[in-house]
Amino acid sequence: MLVQTLFYFFVVTLFTLVQSGPVLFDRAFIKYGRHGKRQMVYDFHHIDNKTVPTDKHLIIVKTKTMEIIYTEAVRNLKNLQDLYLSNCGVQKIETKAFFNLPNLTVLHLEDNHIEELKKGVFNGLTVKILSLQRNEIKQIDGEAFDDMPLLFKIKLNSNRLKSWDSGWFKNTPRLTELYFRRNKLSYLPRSAFVNVKGSHLVDGISVVDTKIFLSKNKLGELVPESFYDLERISQLYLDRNNIQVVPDGAFRDLTDVDVIYLARNKISEINGNAFPKVRNIGILDLSSNLLECLPYGLVTVANVTNLEKNNGTCDCIKEFRAKLQEEKRSCEISYSEDLCTIT
Ligand SMILES: *[C@@H]1O[C@H](CO)[C@@H](O)[C@H](O)[C@H]1NC(C)=O
Ligand SMILES: *[C@@H]1O[C@H](CO)[C@@H](O)[C@H](O)[C@H]1NC(C)=O
Ligand SMILES: *[C@@H]1O[C@H](CO)[C@@H](O)[C@H](O)[C@H]1NC(C)=O
Ligand SMILES: *[C@@H]1O[C@H](CO)[C@@H](O)[C@H](O)[C@H]1NC(C)=O
Repeated sequence: MLVQTLFYFFVVTLFTLVQSGPVLFDRAFIKYGRHGKRQMVYDFHHIDNKTVPTDKHLIIVKTKTMEIIYTEAVRNLKNLQDLYLSNCGVQKIETKAFFNLPNLTVLHLEDNHIEELKKGVFNGLTVKILSLQRNEIKQIDGEAFDDMPLLFKIKLNSNRLKSWDSGWFKNTPRLTELYFRRNKLSYLPRSAFVNVKGSHLVDGISVVDTKIFLSKNKLGELVPESFYDLERISQLYLDRNNIQVVPDGAFRDLTDVDVIYLARNKISEINGNAFPKVRNIGILDLSSNLLECLPYGLVTVANVTNLEKNNGTCDCIKEFRAKLQEEKRSCEISYSEDLCTIT
């Protein structure tokens, strides 16, 4: 009897100790399901099967005071699919913060104050969509996004990233949409996209569907090695950067692309060997640059070449259009007719 009592006392003490670990938030509104009622809750140490109903597929937390998402802060919820921790004042996420969530599909962490992503936070999660936009992320570990078997879309727009790591996304084979707009990237390292596959199986058919958004960064010189290994891609957005020259071999391995946006840079030169293997480009958008001309071969592989708002391309366009007509090619060049009257 005494032994049992002592044992019981021991278990209760242990439980209390575990529960009295750091507080995740002292008060928050929490909603179960999109149309669930907002409930005020207090003193949460964990969002888990002891504190929330386990059959809920969606949990939305609203608080300003969840500064650190501790190890196992959200855990043991086998039906949880969507978790919203947006705009919660998060500054830091510890390793294994999201633990034993076998059905987690969408993780919303946007509009927080996160500065760094360490390895061990997201690895192994089953999420398809990871939203991290509008944080203050400057640093991401090389292994932060490894081994994410279902990750399809990563949103990192509007952060403070200065450097890209070619090692990201190892063993993350379904990644298709990479949003990195409005960061401070000035440089892409060698083989920046080596782990990103251009095509994926959709209902057993290989589809070229990858989209990479790098608009509104500070990319200056395009280092040719950056795009090595990128063969086929659906959409590549490099608009609104500071690119001046598209050099020899810049897109060395690229064969097919639906859309490549290079608009609103300061491009004055495209090397004749910039796209040595390309077979077809759907839209080549070079509008708002400083081009006077470009290699004719490039225009013939593009269905549409957009040369609007490039001062001084009129003579070149005139010549190319005549040539395209003579060779009976159906490629189009679009240009600003008010600046450049061609009869
Ligand atoms: C919560 O989940 C854990 C891990 O699956 C389990 O060991 C524990 O018994 C569950 N607790 C409750 C109250 O359901
Ligand atoms: C959660 O995942 C398990 C397998 O890990 C599965 O059996 C179960 O049906 C899933 N639940 C939901 C709601 O998807
Ligand atoms: C370019 O046009 C050809 C012929 O109309 C078409 O087969 C091809 O799919 C187009 N390419 C893209 C990337 O849209
Ligand atoms: C381009 O041409 C327009 C109209 O002629 C002119 O206003 C503008 O300053 C020119 N821009 C550059 C960059 O030369």
